[in-house]
Amino acid sequence: MTTASAPGKIILFGEHAVVYGRPALAVPVTQVHTDVDITDSDSAGIWIQAPDINLHAELNTLPSDHPIASVIHNLFFLSRVSPFPKLNIKITSTIPVASGLGSGAAVTVALTRALSAHIHYPMTDEQVNAFAYEIEKLHHGTPSGIDNTVITYAKPVYFVKRSPSPSGRGARGEGGIETFKVGQPFMIVIGDTGISAPTKESVGDVRKLWEADKTKWESVFDQVGVIANAARDSIERGKMKELGELMNQNHTLLQEMTVSSPELDKLVTAARNAGALGAKLSGGGRGGNMIALVEADRAEAVAKSLMDAGAKHTIITQVA
Ligand code: PMV
Repeated sequence: MTTASAPGKIILFGEHAVVYGRPALAVPVTQVHTDVDITDSDSAGIWIQAPDINLHAELNTLPSDHPIASVIHNLFFLSRVSPFPKLNIKITSTIPVASGLGSGAAVTVALTRALSAHIHYPMTDEQVNAFAYEIEKLHHGTPSGIDNTVITYAKPVYFVKRSPSPSGRGARGEGGIETFKVGQPFMIVIGDTGISAPTKESVGDVRKLWEADKTKWESVFDQVGVIANAARDSIERGKMKELGELMNQNHTLLQEMTVSSPELDKLVTAARNAGALGAKLSGGGRGGNMIALVEADRAEAVAKSLMDAGAKHTIITQVA
């Protein structure tokens, strides 16, 4: 049997503006993960079992653009495997779907790693990341690449989109992936609205705003970029109060981009009222998750307030 696993992720700062070349910060969330097991099979075909999404099917019965099928087809094409092996692939995941925790990218990364190992086609992290980005592009239009990057490397990532941004403007650390130092470990409470919201739609809506008034939105994205850089400095220096304030500022700009929602705002306010140092939505927005920065002794109380305010579940995670 060959196995591989990939964590979930949250974006701490810079979502949406990252699509336009501004920096963003993201961290892995290891409390949730996708696991893939592959075994050789006696029966013909490649059988995929993914109980969390009620899938039990032979590869060729799935549309070729199905997210799981597209990973397998593209990897077999890349590795020139022939004939196709007979396999049983089991995919299980505790990452909620379409909620900003990177479920799609985690399936792609874990499946790519397990499959490439099973067919003896070794891939470096860089290759896995580049491959996962191509798969993200098939399903998400114009992804920045931050999800596949933080999930592949499973460490805190300071990310700037590599390819030319739609606006043609860059930011600090142009073109790459840097990890950043965490001066003092800190706690994040994640609150899930339970509303599944496709990132593609919120990204598309922000694009429409940008197209209608590029000067205005470039300036908003610049402000987000300044916040993301300041946040990195605060994290490196262990300045948690500053970091919380930066989260609040980032949330205000995300509201301006129209990607928050009444449910997200309610959870953000509840977290702040319960003593969080700051809170914001995380990821594509409209639904999905929000995050709150908390002192360790407030984590449980903030998590409880989020549940009282309508969160479907919460995760307390440490960034270290
Ligand atoms: O919804 P998520 O967590 O997959 O995050 C999307 C982040 C965006 O910046 C909105 C889009 C992107 O591709 O970076």
